[in-house]
Amino acid sequence: MSRNVMIRTKNISFSYTEYENNQELDSDDMELVKAAREASLKAYAPYSKFKVGAAVRLKSGKVVCGANIENAAFPSGICAERSALSNSISNHPEDEPVAIAISAMTEDGITDASPSPCGNCRQVIAEEEQRTGNKIRIILSGKNKTLIIEGIGDLLPLQFNRNNLKINPL
Ligand code: THU
Repeated sequence: MSRNVMIRTKNISFSYTEYENNQELDSDDMELVKAAREASLKAYAPYSKFKVGAAVRLKSGKVVCGANIENAAFPSGICAERSALSNSISNHPEDEPVAIAISAMTEDGITDASPSPCGNCRQVIAEEEQRTGNKIRIILSGKNKTLIIEGIGDLLPLQFNRNNLKINPL
């Protein structure tokens, strides 16, 4: 006996722009990358020795930074992205983030590879996009090349958010 089976495989694509040479970045993006690099110098990362800096540009033009802060109890550490967003949300709740740049360094200097936010940080960026109703431009910058993603949707598809909790939109 045959029956109709309603199963579909769906493909999700995502896109980003790759700048093979950071000199091609526009001046606002480059300024944010420089702020993230400076922030990484302030990281407290005695365990991994992997220093990450994040710089958030707010709608007003203000730039707010954060770095990773590790802890002997490893899960108590915090990543640079959440450190920067905690800073911006708690000090400038009405001033919405429009972009975040991330840079990482080891003892050999700025990493060649562009850093990529961990799952926890992607989740927090998603919440901030939902809170403000604005996409956040995500700038992942390595020593020479940079990837730019226009919003967390391309880094965190099928995300869990307040809609899943059936809480009314803000
Ligand atoms: N880390 C960040 O700060 N951001 C990321 O996107 C990935 C990882 C930190 C956490 C930890 O202090 C160190 O890098 C090594 O994982």
